[in-house]
Amino acid sequence: MKRIGVLTSGGDAPGMNAAIRAVVRAGVYHDLQVFGIYRGYQGLIDGDIAELGARSVGGIINRGGTILRSARCKAFFEKEGRAQAAKALAQHGIEGLVVIGGDGSYRGALDLHKEHGIACTGLPGTIDNDIGGTDFTIGYDTALNIALEAIDRIRDTAESHDRIFFVEVMGRHSGYLAMMSGIAGGAEEILVPETPTSIESIVEHLRINREKGKQSSIIVVAEGDDAGNAIQVAKQVDAMANIPNSRVVVIGHLQRGGTPTAFDRVLASRLGVRAVEALMEGATARMIGINANNVVLRPLDEAWKCRTQFDPGLTRIAHILAT
Ligand code: F6P
Repeated sequence: MKRIGVLTSGGDAPGMNAAIRAVVRAGVYHDLQVFGIYRGYQGLIDGDIAELGARSVGGIINRGGTILRSARCKAFFEKEGRAQAAKALAQHGIEGLVVIGGDGSYRGALDLHKEHGIACTGLPGTIDNDIGGTDFTIGYDTALNIALEAIDRIRDTAESHDRIFFVEVMGRHSGYLAMMSGIAGGAEEILVPETPTSIESIVEHLRINREKGKQSSIIVVAEGDDAGNAIQVAKQVDAMANIPNSRVVVIGHLQRGGTPTAFDRVLASRLGVRAVEALMEGATARMIGINANNVVLRPLDEAWKCRTQFDPGLTRIAHILAT
């Protein structure tokens, strides 16, 4: 293998740049030519491809977002789109591809491999930490700490004004970020899509807390909770508990940007180097993950077949501590 490509796909995540840097520099170290593919699979279809050298990735390890930019590309879900992408790769002589993104991006990579024989490795890049085959995804730790800082700040106002705050944390299909930031921030309630939410029991919990003298509460709501988003949950709780003065904070995309933590940078660096070396060893359709602090190679489809979930015991811990 002489030429490889790297792209970022799906939602950006802090640490993606550190991963790009690792892929490019590991490639250069092993005498490969490395090509950056811009705007994810869309750029691949459009042939938006340029060679990257060690210097082109200088000064990016500390930057959030992705210098390659990202996209969610519908055309790549179609066979025709993938055929165009394979053609662009062939034109540049690229034999192996490193895809940095979530499980949706891996599905595309697996199809590209099956239909056109392109060797693909996936690097888990998403703040959601919901990809199977890895304990942690690149970007999760940074997003978690941003959410936690927001909760800590909100706590000050909640306590000063005896208020209930509903804080919405990202995670359309996963409550991982909500659960961890909620426990770390000492939230009184944590609502996640993995478990059914009962508005009645939240109201009852708030009533008991008030009786015990606790006048303020933080209720962390994962955006994909079954009872709705934070605004919808707040409306239901306020109406039932007759709370006039609650507030809703949606942290939203603040969680996706900004300087990656040391953890995310080191994870991205470890996984990025391994992705290149795996391609050189002949790996196809593999993702690189971290398991018990070891870098591991897993089948790409494990990403969505065995999705990572938080330990269900954490629900109990959150409940015990929220008194
Ligand atoms: O998958 C990452 C993520 O940030 C989710 O947590 C969130 O539900 C979704 O992306 C938001 O996507 P978009 O940026 O397209 O609104």
